[in-house]
Amino acid sequence: MKLKDRVAIITGAGSGQGKASAKLFANEGAKVVIVEWNEENGKSVEQEIIQDGHEALFIKTDISKEEDVINVVQQVMDTYGKIDILFNNASVGFSARSKYKMAQVQDTPLEDWNSIIGINLNGAYLMCKHILPIMIKQKGGNIINNSSMNGLIGVTGADAYTAAKGGVVALTRVMAVDNGKHNIRVNCICPGAIDTPMIAEVLEDATVAKNFAAGPLGRVGKPEEIATAALFLASDDSSYITGLIMPVDGGWSAV
Ligand SMILES: NC(=O)c1ccc[n+]([C@@H]2O[C@H](COP(=O)([O-])OP(=O)(O)OC[C@H]3O[C@@H](n4cnc5c(N)ncnc54)[C@H](O)[C@@H]3O)[C@@H](O)[C@H]2O)c1
Repeated sequence: MKLKDRVAIITGAGSGQGKASAKLFANEGAKVVIVEWNEENGKSVEQEIIQDGHEALFIKTDISKEEDVINVVQQVMDTYGKIDILFNNASVGFSARSKYKMAQVQDTPLEDWNSIIGINLNGAYLMCKHILPIMIKQKGGNIINNSSMNGLIGVTGADAYTAAKGGVVALTRVMAVDNGKHNIRVNCICPGAIDTPMIAEVLEDATVAKNFAAGPLGRVGKPEEIATAALFLASDDSSYITGLIMPVDGGWSAV
């Protein structure tokens, strides 16, 4: 039980990597707070975890709205009285179903740029803005940000998404520097292509699928492989690690 009795907030926990992390963290003893704007998925993950005999709380939230984020923090503090772990995982992008345009700068409408930055970067900022004061008061905490290989290298065609993910990498470093003295660790995962609903339709394009699987391990990743990386960073197994930008990409960014 690597997270026994720890309170862990996971954004975007209704699907993909967030869902896999919520289930793994709960199996490891955490009380998991599912922060998700898709009510059906959020409730269903909450039920799955409770049926497995663990503790979970779903709070319908749009992380880009400050009033929603304040509501999450209030509800969690009223229910559990502390916040040990924050996994900033929710994002939009890369799906043909996404209503936001994934394109190069010159083809990205300002409205879509603002929406993508508003969720993928500002959402993480807002969660940290309202949770850091609690962690500072507690004299400890653990924040994990989910960026992307797009945050490390140029991947064509999703420039707002890429800019947001680069921002998440930089935010991780500066928050690690600022908060080490408060016993708060801040680390970042940069996933390669992971088989989740976010990229399901993109993977139907054979050329894209081949490129995404072109790393040394020759395949796309599974959401559970990000969850185990998140568990490592969330647990005391990584107690001397902060400010780490960790690719979990089958070696894709090493080529
Ligand atoms: N799948 C990949 O190939 C890949 C690669 C690199 C990075 N990532 C990153 O991994 C993270 C998890 O993505 P995933 O692959 O599990 O995708 P996913 O689409 O399966 O899950 C994302 C979840 O975030 C939720 N969400 C989106 N916007 C939200 C908002 N404003 N408020 C609350 N919830 C919101 C969605 O409803 C969804 O449940 C994301 O940050 C993504 O950018 C994914």
